[in-house]
Amino acid sequence: MNLNVFITRRTQTEALTLLQKAFEHVDLSDDLLPMPPDKLREAASGRDGLLIMGNDKADAALFDAAGPQLRAISNYSVGYNNIDIAEATRRRIVVTNTPGVLDETTADLTWALMLAVGRRLIEADKFARSGEWRGWAPTQLCGADLFGKTLGIVGAGRIGAAVARRAAGFSMPVIYSTRTPKPELDKFGAKRVAFDELLRQSDFITVHVPLTPETKHMFGEKQFRAMKPTAFFINMARGPVHDEAALVRALQQRWIAGAGLDVYENEPQINPDLLPLANAVLLPHIGSATEETRRRMSIMTAENLINVLTGKPCPNIVNPEVLKP
Ligand code: DGY
Repeated sequence: MNLNVFITRRTQTEALTLLQKAFEHVDLSDDLLPMPPDKLREAASGRDGLLIMGNDKADAALFDAAGPQLRAISNYSVGYNNIDIAEATRRRIVVTNTPGVLDETTADLTWALMLAVGRRLIEADKFARSGEWRGWAPTQLCGADLFGKTLGIVGAGRIGAAVARRAAGFSMPVIYSTRTPKPELDKFGAKRVAFDELLRQSDFITVHVPLTPETKHMFGEKQFRAMKPTAFFINMARGPVHDEAALVRALQQRWIAGAGLDVYENEPQINPDLLPLANAVLLPHIGSATEETRRRMSIMTAENLINVLTGKPCPNIVNPEVLKP
């Protein structure tokens, strides 16, 4: 089909192959890093569709630079806080995302972070490699049990539910706070509680909410101070959900025991005061980063773009109102 699309980053080969089969003109930036905004605008010019990453900003400036023929944006991410959806909708640009395919992988990493920070795995690994280990000792590198502790899940959508399901293996009671009850979580014996109660009762708190004006800085000084001093905070969702300066103080002054982070308030910058803290485990936004899941995401983003641009049904449209007559 004589359509013109652009992929903003080096991705798995499946996406490129599928798009090349479907469309006459397919270009890509073969870089691992995000394109500077002016280069992205330049590259978007004249395109019918864009396959962008969760850290590419898609706003009025990009839509203007692309031109009025732009009909679809396929986001290689389930979160779409990088896109001005209202503006895309106003311009009748269809936006798609990648729900479902990364839930289990992200839930696995949530548990990896809880174990890493609770059982001090990064400190222990560094110590084992340091040449300073002189043998087993009763007080050496003691962390916190996960077994039997209370797990608090904030935002229990698909990923939160996948995290909750794994809790049975650790005999951890699960409480969760969401705006609406989630019967799929109740099935695992999880109990819905108010956010304040979740803060007070949980030993591990893990966040799985989308970034919206309501969830921005949902965790600040007040919330960290309300947590148990023995509790751990895990953020696998979006960085601005926590106030990073407040989190640094919470960790330095031991209002809480530790934190495991995969996302940061100003990615890719990490608050420099987090870096020396042994009670923080820091990952570079790898929640969905497995070979299998990234391949699934790559195929899904290409299929989303193809389906939208060729007028076929697409289940992953974020702003379906664009297609209503
Ligand atoms: C997602 O899909 O939201 C991941 O965090 C990648 O951005």
